[in-house]
Amino acid sequence: MANILDAFKEDQSTTVIDTTRKMRVGIIGTGWIADAHIKSYLNQPDVEIVAGADLIPGKAAAFFKKHGVEGVKTDYASHKEMLDDESLKLDAVSICTYNRQHAEPAIYALNKGVNVLLEKPFTVTTEEAVEVMRAEKASGKVLSIGFQPRLDANMQKIKQIVESGALGKIYYIQTGGGRRRGIPTPFGTTFIEDETAGLGALADIGCYSLDMVLNAIGYPKPLTVSGYKSAFFGTRPDYYPKHPEYAAKFGVDDFAAAFIRLEGDIVLDFRIAWAMNMDTPGDTIILGTEGGLRIPSTECWNGTVGGPMKIYHQVAGSQVETEIPVIPMKGPSLFDRKIRTFLDACKNGTPAPVPSSQILYNQAIIDGIAKSANLGREIEIVIPEI
Ligand SMILES: NC(=O)c1ccc[n+]([C@@H]2O[C@H](COP(=O)([O-])OP(=O)(O)OC[C@H]3O[C@@H](n4cnc5c(N)ncnc54)[C@H](O)[C@@H]3O)[C@@H](O)[C@H]2O)c1
Repeated sequence: MANILDAFKEDQSTTVIDTTRKMRVGIIGTGWIADAHIKSYLNQPDVEIVAGADLIPGKAAAFFKKHGVEGVKTDYASHKEMLDDESLKLDAVSICTYNRQHAEPAIYALNKGVNVLLEKPFTVTTEEAVEVMRAEKASGKVLSIGFQPRLDANMQKIKQIVESGALGKIYYIQTGGGRRRGIPTPFGTTFIEDETAGLGALADIGCYSLDMVLNAIGYPKPLTVSGYKSAFFGTRPDYYPKHPEYAAKFGVDDFAAAFIRLEGDIVLDFRIAWAMNMDTPGDTIILGTEGGLRIPSTECWNGTVGGPMKIYHQVAGSQVETEIPVIPMKGPSLFDRKIRTFLDACKNGTPAPVPSSQILYNQAIIDGIAKSANLGREIEIVIPEI
């Protein structure tokens, strides 16, 4: 009897971690998101954090002190000095720098033969992403991009639904998300200045919306894009009652919309907002010949499933809806999973959990939207050979 009941239990299997092989890890950029990285590294039994670098003198040292981590070398002016320090014998780095500083440290680390966990978005331009991938290819090392929502069972369910064939042939997708007021400036202006961020809502949270649907449908190649972007909120001093001076620094987009054609005769209707006069620009919907899937948005868009999903389909001639209950999160946090899956790929020589080959298309769409918006017309998406 017990055996029968066991068959209905959730899979409790866990990966056995080889603690005899410690990974020597460094952190590049010790700002906001580096907090999440270090907390998750500290939860792993096979990691030694050996170094950290930040452009701001003293910031890395203060960061490790705050997290109670001792014996970490931090006396580096940038990623370069840290990666040049052969005595560290680094196995892997987390790159937690602002968007404009994603490509350069990633290329430098890969050229030094170090595995890289690179925060999202991949880069700012497609050209940068291609350069990073060339370095990845030459190095043979792991490069994974930091899309932790992918490790959420609800996100994985979207892919399972598509792959089950329940939706039939997919031909139209609407995705995106928004915040009524949600420009990320709690820790300063690195998200809103062109020289640090490069792109705004489009890259910061747009990359999640794109990954949600493109991963589900197998990342078809993007072909053309007609994009729009604007900055009507971030540039207003009254948006920031405590910091009206931020308005003059705002050099990115706070809203973007686009119509994208994908290989396989699929069209993608996209809209994203850090700020707008609306609660949400709509749920994500995936239309197929046999069924349509509605994925509720979240109030403050962060790339996750906002409630029970619904499949609209026809059964025995009746139009019916099937609700997919939200799967409660159990076990390690998404960040712990992001770090663990990256470490496992490095140790076992297995493919990156979030491979650059997929996120290249995500980046090419983002870059295409920005370029098309600047030109004011539709453009072809051209992706150079790696
Ligand atoms: N996955 C997520 O959930 C998530 C959440 C927030 C931010 N992010 C991403 O993480 C990245 C960083 O965001 P943040 O909020 O931590 O930014 P931040 O501005 O708080 O921190 C970035 C730090 O990197 C340092 N830096 C920049 N270039 C460097 C270099 N070459 N060498 C060493 N240090 C360098 C800066 O001095 C700064 O301290 C962004 O690209 C963002 O999109 C991801």
